Amino acid sequence: MAKKTVADLNFSGKCALMRADFNVPLDDAGHITDDRRIRAALPTIRKILDDGGRLILMSHLGRPEGAPDPKYSLAPVARRLGEILERKVPLAPDCVGPEVAAMAKGLQAGGCMVLENLRFHEAEVIKDKKAKDDAGLRAKKDGFAKALASLADVYVNDAFGTCHRDNASMLTVPQMMEGKPRVVGFLIKKELEFLGGALTSPKRPFVVILGGAKVSDKIGVIEHLTTRCDTILVGGAMAYTFMAADGLATGNSKVEKDFIEEAKRLKQHAGEKLKLPTDSVVAAKLEPGAATQVAGGAIPEGMMGLDIGPETVKTYEKIIAGAQTVVWNGPMGVFETPPFDRGTLAVAAALATATDKGAVTIIGGGDSAAAVEAADLADRMSHVSTGGGASLEFLEGKKFAPLEVLDEA
Ligand code: 3PG
Repeated sequence: MAKKTVADLNFSGKCALMRADFNVPLDDAGHITDDRRIRAALPTIRKILDDGGRLILMSHLGRPEGAPDPKYSLAPVARRLGEILERKVPLAPDCVGPEVAAMAKGLQAGGCMVLENLRFHEAEVIKDKKAKDDAGLRAKKDGFAKALASLADVYVNDAFGTCHRDNASMLTVPQMMEGKPRVVGFLIKKELEFLGGALTSPKRPFVVILGGAKVSDKIGVIEHLTTRCDTILVGGAMAYTFMAADGLATGNSKVEKDFIEEAKRLKQHAGEKLKLPTDSVVAAKLEPGAATQVAGGAIPEGMMGLDIGPETVKTYEKIIAGAQTVVWNGPMGVFETPPFDRGTLAVAAALATATDKGAVTIIGGGDSAAAVEAADLADRMSHVSTGGGASLEFLEGKKFAPLEVLDEA
């Protein structure tokens, strides 16, 4: 499914409406703590502006309740973008309405503006499934999308992180702009090349590393990737649900009791490909600098498993060193709380070395992206996805409706 991209168009004399994913983390003072998603959109932004196009950027930030909330304003994003582009990037007071339309009309060639948070309007997040049986909701979503669509001549989607959502700006707006060019940006192109390449034509051996708290979040990925990959390395608390499925004691470790049967089924489905930790770093309490022990196999009573153990690290390092493609989603332990960050950091370092030796290493967004950033190793991965939920759903083999409606190459 090759899509037309911004590279196929010349934006001179055109006004582009670009959906980006500027859903960046903010601290309590409203400062951006990680601007990766803004920087990732720059190649597309620059292409449009360098062509002499006029650019209207739109995004959501957080999950406001369908009404304006200053806490979720895109003002910090517009400011940051202005700093990076070294020009003034005005923020519209809303994303639709006469004032916004006038601002858009007043854009000069090579100029850009940012619309205020799309989710200040409830219509943005109305699900198509709900709107199907409710004409009022359908009209509300369509009306909002139509107002956005009327602002521009070209629709650009570079919001990979939101591609698993049928938000109005993602799906209804391009539907409304039928007949006008509707293309993907460079970021989506890159995400699809890396993630799609791993799924369809990986260099082998292909190793998948899955961590994080819950098996329930990874069922779809395990099911979809088992037939495609050579090995699945499991870490994080989800490993304890698998251990419980094997009948091993798990102490006070986080176990999803309702998913033990599902874990048994997944183990059977994946067979020898699925590798579980052979030892764990355990502690009585989860706190920084807690006294730790290493438990081989079962977790002692009163203790909880909080990271993969040193023997598992060695085994996983060896498997990663022999891999030609690695996809990693989910940390190996509670990496935010040292000393339970060691397994995750070791895996990040092993991936960096594998990249240096020619392997394709892909970080599937979310916590694992945060972990490689924290380890200062993001630049040594082949690709760090900007999608958390989106990359997970992509790896599950799900189709993204917002991309299906865009122009074919
Ligand atoms: C994300 O951060 O995963 C995307 O921006 C989507 O956000 P959402 O889960 O609030 O839709």
